[in-house]
Amino acid sequence: MERWGSRLGALLALVGGAVGLGNFLRFPFQAAKWGGGAFLVPYGVALLWVGLPLVWMEVAMGRAGSKAAAQSAPRLLEVLIGRWGWFVGLVAVYVSIGVAAYYAYLTGWTVGYAWHGLRGDFPAGAVEQGASFHSRFLAGEAVLWWIGVLVLMGLVLSAGLQKGLEKVSLYGMPLLFLLAGGIAIGVFFVGETGRCASCSVWAGLRYLYLPRWEALLQPAVWLAATGQVFFTIGVGFGIYLVYSAAWSGNDPIRDSVLTVSANTFAEVGLGGVIVIPLVAAFLGMEAVQARAGFGMGFEVMPYVLMAWGGRLLVVAWYLLLFLAAFTSLIAMGWVGVTWLSEAVGGTPRRWAWPLTLAIAVLGAPVAFGPNSSAMDLYDQWMGSLFLVVAALGQWWVFQRVRPWAVVEAESRWRLGRVWRFIMQVGTPVFLIFLLVGSFFQPEKGDWVGACRQLLAGEGWPWAPEALPVSLAHHLRDPWGLAGFLLLILTAGGLVLLRKRS
Ligand code: ALA
Repeated sequence: MERWGSRLGALLALVGGAVGLGNFLRFPFQAAKWGGGAFLVPYGVALLWVGLPLVWMEVAMGRAGSKAAAQSAPRLLEVLIGRWGWFVGLVAVYVSIGVAAYYAYLTGWTVGYAWHGLRGDFPAGAVEQGASFHSRFLAGEAVLWWIGVLVLMGLVLSAGLQKGLEKVSLYGMPLLFLLAGGIAIGVFFVGETGRCASCSVWAGLRYLYLPRWEALLQPAVWLAATGQVFFTIGVGFGIYLVYSAAWSGNDPIRDSVLTVSANTFAEVGLGGVIVIPLVAAFLGMEAVQARAGFGMGFEVMPYVLMAWGGRLLVVAWYLLLFLAAFTSLIAMGWVGVTWLSEAVGGTPRRWAWPLTLAIAVLGAPVAFGPNSSAMDLYDQWMGSLFLVVAALGQWWVFQRVRPWAVVEAESRWRLGRVWRFIMQVGTPVFLIFLLVGSFFQPEKGDWVGACRQLLAGEGWPWAPEALPVSLAHHLRDPWGLAGFLLLILTAGGLVLLRKRS
């Protein structure tokens, strides 16, 4: 069985699995969209009620299962509760493989943009070319960068846990924090650029962090915050299960807290301080509001960074995004190869290339589709549905075994009764809320109005983002449909692939 070479390496790998594009791109826009500083209240609550408890649960089950020399998510849970544990673990594998399929494509963008940044292809002041550059990039070379990232992933996975994943994290994570910290501190010195009336870093920071308290009354805000906590910490992917199973000498409770703290710092402290305030300083608040979304990180940021500091800054930004994304991607990959090794036989390393190929095939509709239909479909299917199902399943397994003795034997810290109560009752309530909420999302997030409308016999006003509506919409696109069929085939493959023992 493969183990980490050092405690620090194991911890940094865990932080690497958590910190990803979610911290630097997804968080700022979610926060800005859902009430700015007020968003941080449900975000903090979800962090403590579901995020941290689920990390503890995964880590505890990983440690307990590893005593039976198990190393994959399905096997780790199977040794705890039998056959149903295997299936709960499979859902985590499904999530990891499904997210990796589009995450690898996004990771490719970061490498491609770093390359163009180095060549000086983003002249300062030419931001209006950003959208067309991005479209050309997607229509042409993006596929090549995606293949490059897949090859890199295959190489790292086939080098194994110590020589591959641990090495990447040991060098990559400190570099990531250095780059992000440097850029974030620099942002405070930009202040007001005088390029327009509202061109100021402070306007961006105010927009992002100033609370709009009325937002707290909307269930949609709580839903968005819980969803963000899930995605960013990476619970439900099985990463914490398989990474902690390979620990030796780590402290399960303390290291979980350290990981979640590092991830929160990277998100709220660094991610929030970079994109929105910088775009506000160079292009003004109107540009922030008009272009708010994931794409701002690619269509607008290179030009803003050129105007601020030049090519090297553009490269630094995309290098940090690459490190964030790649360390998460290989973590998902490791969940996949450990599963193959215990479902079929052989070492996890032996499965590096077959898994990479499978992820490439599953990602093909995302990479070759002319629009983002397949990507949105994958994101919804995995992020809003199976991620939560995986977490609920893990909570259920945890309740049946409660492996506290194992965790406390290895920890210097103790979890008091309050935490145990939250983990028992609070966590599943939040999870069910998240599942039901993303399924039935009403128009404009107005739950009260929607309930009234339903009671008046006028039917439910579905929001376009509600899971069934959005899935139906994406299935009308041939690439979305192809992606969906592949997702179903993958699920079937996961269930059927199991060696006879
Ligand atoms: N946790 C990873 C992220 O935030 C998936 O992007």
